Parts: sequence; C-alpha cells; structure tokens
Amino acid sequence: MLNFTKKIILEAGEIVKKYYYSENLKIENKSEKDLVTEADKACEKFLVEKIKAEFPDHKILGEESGSTETDAQNSCKWIIDPIDGTTNFAHKLPIFAISIGLEKDGEVILGIVYNPITGEMFSAEKGEGSYLEIIGANGINTEPRRLHVSKNSNLKKCLLCTGFHPGHPELFEKNIILFKKLMIASHTARRLGAASLDLAYTAAGYFDAFWEFKLYPWDVAAGLLLIQEAGGHVTQMDGSQYSIYGDSILASNNLIHDEMVTQLNS
Ligand code: IPD
Ligand code: CA
Ligand code: CA
Repeated sequence: MLNFTKKIILEAGEIVKKYYYSENLKIENKSEKDLVTEADKACEKFLVEKIKAEFPDHKILGEESGSTETDAQNSCKWIIDPIDGTTNFAHKLPIFAISIGLEKDGEVILGIVYNPITGEMFSAEKGEGSYLEIIGANGINTEPRRLHVSKNSNLKKCLLCTGFHPGHPELFEKNIILFKKLMIASHTARRLGAASLDLAYTAAGYFDAFWEFKLYPWDVAAGLLLIQEAGGHVTQMDGSQYSIYGDSILASNNLIHDEMVTQLNS
C-alpha cells in the first residue's frame, strides 16, 4: 500500500507542478475567500482514477469530488486533499501539499503528505513510525529519516502554528484572539496556510504544537497519523477525544498538551 501510494502521489505531484509553473492558471471561487484551481481538480481526478483502478471496492473521499460509495462492504476509505494550501498555490507560494490518508475500520493506517515543489515527502504507516524523505528534481532522493516530535516542555520556548478556515468568518475572530494570546505565551506562533504541512512539521519537531478550528477529514487524515507515529498527541482543542470528522484539532509534542488546552480554553 505504501509503495502504491508513494507512486501515485509522485505522479500527481508532476501534474500539480505543471500547473504551478504555467502562466495562466484557471482559478475559481468556492466562496469569497475559498479558492479552487484547475490543478486541484486535475490532481484529484488522477488520484481517484488510479485508486479506483487498483482497489475497485475501496471507498474514496476527496475534497473536490466528495464521497464515492461502493456496493462492496470493504471498510477501506482513501481520504484525499489534492492541494492542501490552495491559496498559497494560487499565489505561487510553495507551501502546499498533496495529502492522502487511508482509513480502515475507522482508523487511519497510512498517510502521505507531499510538497512537489520542495520535494518533502512525509509518510507514515500504523505502527511503523513517521518518515521524511526529500524527492530530488534530478531523481536523487534522500534516505527516509525517522521523525520524532520535539522535546520542548517549556511553552515560553515553543514555536506554535495555527490556521484559519476561509469559510468560517465567525471562527476567524475567535482564533485571532487565541493567536495573539499564544504568540505571547510561547516563543511565537505562525500561520503557514496548509494544515497537512502544519501537522507534518509538528511531527518533525519544527513546531511544538498546532491547533485549528473546523478542518475537514482530507486536511488532517494523513497528518494525524504522522503525529501519532512520531510520538505526539492529538485531541480536540478542548482536550476531548479526537476524530478526523470532529470540530477542532490540537496536535502537540505531548509535553505541552495540557498547558495548550488550558491556554486555548481559559
Ligand atoms: C486549507 C488549508 C489551510 C487551513 C484551512 C484549509 P485548502 O485547505 O489547510 O491551512 O487553514 O482551514 O481549508 O482549502 O487549501 O485545501
Ligand atoms: Ca485542505
Ligand atoms: Ca484542498
């Protein structure tokens, strides 16, 4: 499964790169602030076709095409974000990724987050750890490096990250207050604009924690497993049990988790 997923995500990356370097990218508005481009659609179409051809009885949930149910009772579901960070992509800011997660019996068992511009490929399989390899433009790749969350237990020294969903202005106001509060309480906080990478970077120990309201399963399925397999902890922002179908996420290195819950809820 891992090799199959790596193969199709690399091919999808080539499709995305062509659009990224093209002059006239077609961009549409899903809502005032939420964009979709022809690259998002082409990438998802490609991935869905490849998965359907290889695993005809698996379910697929894609951001742009929705849910595909099959007659078979197979409990495997592929969860795809063809471009996570579309706003960055549309502005040619190379902070975006293709995210693929595989859920089996309600649990994510495989996840890959791949930025085709930087070549960063984060991957995890349940019980096997999280890894980062760099895919070189010249075909020379680095050896996969095992990832671990950071060991920082002092919030004052931590680098944090959050995100703001474009479709929820009411949550923008709420999170701006939390953003400021956590910037002061920690070393500082960032907003990169691609939740899958925010999670991958937390798994790699670059960030000590990440939080966001209202993400969708395709934003977080792969990233959740990356964090878990790198020794981190994931709950909702109030500290309650996490689900990729839930309302909020707090992912951390474990050591600052309780303090983050307190900060986010007081
Ligand atoms: C968005 C990004 C962003 C997050 C938003 C997501 P998209 O995904 O992950 O970082 O703040 O909540 O919707 O729309 O670029 O796939
Ligand atoms: Ca997304
Ligand atoms: Ca997307």
